[in-house]
Formats: sequence, C-alpha cells, structure tokens
Amino acid sequence: MTSVFPMVRLRRLRYEPLVRRLVRETVLSPDRFILPLFVRPGQGIRQPILSMPGQFQLSIDELVKEAEEAVSLGLGGVILFGIPETKDSIGSDAMSEAGMIARAVRHVKQAVGNKLLVMTDLCFCEYTDHGHCGVLREKPDGGYEVDNDTTLENLVRQALVHARAGADLLAPSCMMDGMVRVLRSGLDREGFSHLPIMSYAAKYASSFYGPFREAAESSPKFGDRRSYQMDPTAAAGQAIREVQLDLEEGADMVMIKPALAYLDIVRLVRDRFEGVPIAAYNVSGEYSMVKAAAEKGWIDEKAVVLESLTAITRAGANIILTYWAKDLAKWL
Ligand code: PBG
Repeated sequence: MTSVFPMVRLRRLRYEPLVRRLVRETVLSPDRFILPLFVRPGQGIRQPILSMPGQFQLSIDELVKEAEEAVSLGLGGVILFGIPETKDSIGSDAMSEAGMIARAVRHVKQAVGNKLLVMTDLCFCEYTDHGHCGVLREKPDGGYEVDNDTTLENLVRQALVHARAGADLLAPSCMMDGMVRVLRSGLDREGFSHLPIMSYAAKYASSFYGPFREAAESSPKFGDRRSYQMDPTAAAGQAIREVQLDLEEGADMVMIKPALAYLDIVRLVRDRFEGVPIAAYNVSGEYSMVKAAAEKGWIDEKAVVLESLTAITRAGANIILTYWAKDLAKWL
C-alpha cells in the first residue's frame, strides 16, 4: 500500500483547540444524567456510606434538599432506592402506600413538581430479610430459589404504589422473565398507560455492585443472584435477546448494567436497535474504585470521570445513571 502521507495528516484535526472543538462529537450534558439516591427512615439524617465517599443514606427531609439541588443543577432526574424500617420475607414495605419509597416519592414530588423526573427502582432485595430480589420458594432438591411468577405479582403491586405516589418513570431491576409485560398490562389496567418503563434489560450478575449492597443494605443472606441476573461469560447475543424481549413486552427504554465493563454490550444494542433510548448504569463499584484511587492521589478524579462518561456516551448510551451526576453538572 502506498502511503498517502504527507498529503494526509490527521494531526491537522487536533493541532489547534478551535479545530478540535469544531470536530468534537461526544458531548456530555447534565440533562442526560440520573442521580441515584438512597432514602431511609428518620429526620435530619445524612448517614455517610463508607464504601462510597460522598454518598449518603438520606431521611426524607434531606432527600428533598437533594432533589431541589438536582433541579437547580439541571439533572435529567433522580432514581430512588429505599431502605425500609422493617424487612420481611416478601418485602411488604415495597408494596405499601405507607412504605419508604411511596412516602419519599410523594414528598419529593410535592417539593419539585414537574421540574424533576423522579424514577423508582422496582425490586425487592432492599425490602426482603433474605436480600433476594423476589419471593423465595423451596426447591425440590433442597435450598431456595426466587419464584419468578409469584414475584411478578408483587412487582405489579409495587409498581402501582410507586405510580400512585407520583413516580414519573419505573425501572424494574429484578431480572424476572416477563417483568415488563406484567408491569405494562398492570399499569395500563389501573389508568397508568402513559407512564414509561425503563427496563434493566441486560443486567449482569456483577461484582461491581458490592458497595451498593452496603449502601442499600441489600446483600443476599445466602447464595448469589446468578440464577436471575445475566452471566458475564454468556454469549453477548443473550443481551440482545433480553433487550428485544423487553421491547416487545412494552419497555420504552432499556438499560445496560454495569456500564464500563460492558461497553461492548452498549455498542451492540445501540447498533441493533435504532431509535431506542439506551441507559447505562455507572455502578457503585465503578464509583468506589475511582474514589479510592483519587483519595490516595493516584488518579485525577475529575479527568477520569469525564473520560469514563465520554466512553459510555460514545459507546451509544443516551442516558447515564451515575453517582457523579451533581459533580458532573458542576464541572461541565
Ligand atoms: C437492585 C439493584 C442493584 C443495583 C441497582 N438496583 C443491586 C443488585 O442487583 O444487587 C446496583 C447499583 C450499583 O451497584 O450502583 N435493586
């Protein structure tokens, strides 16, 4: 092959800052960021989450202040996770109008109205005493499994509680088969046909959720989540099937989670499903690693975060759930 140099010099596109700016393609914007927040019982509480410096378990009054800040920073939204007063075998708190999330959503919506998108996570691991994402059933050969179809019934109850409390977007994360379908028909039946669903469609059984489980007090008391969350070693095409199914069942947006170790999946889904809004969850472990290295002075937090979020966006995500949402809005 004959060389085209010196006629072609790609450095001409990056030699001058003004030219670099002109040809830039991936631009980050706070209105695409969703801030995860943890809400717990009490008053005036901002309980630091040790494994996630800068993140807190908040009582409702403090949560409302965060939500107001999210409005003033122009964030795309918040997603709420609840730590209830009491846990039981089925996660009753999650299905009660008096439960942690129902109360939190009502208070936040009262304060911010339609100025902030309030999303809720639909799952049971934070509400069950065993820490699994649904209802357990004894297996014939001993041990327990999460019973898919019973969990679906409860998921609809949880969704209706969130919808009536005023949630703007529901995000089922339990990885049960058929979850989007039952939610869509359950919501439609009760007059919520306008309420969109962002499905955690391709959610992997990941070690990067470790710090979140401290934050949400949701570690499984036995076993792991590998019989419902996706296997990282499975064919990448399984993620396509998960996304395809959720879209057919009525999902309006799909999520891929975690983000950074699964950028190939983000790109695969982006190329395959034109026009579908794709979210990626920049999860707790991804946050904690950077925080820990930055605390030691080993990396530049801001630069690393901007680069990581650029990568997630370039891979094809339209929406990013990230614990840095507020910082990003200030940096940009
Ligand atoms: C389930 C849920 C989890 C996360 C979001 N929703 C935990 C899990 O599946 O174990 C993890 C998010 C993170 O690590 O930041 N309710």
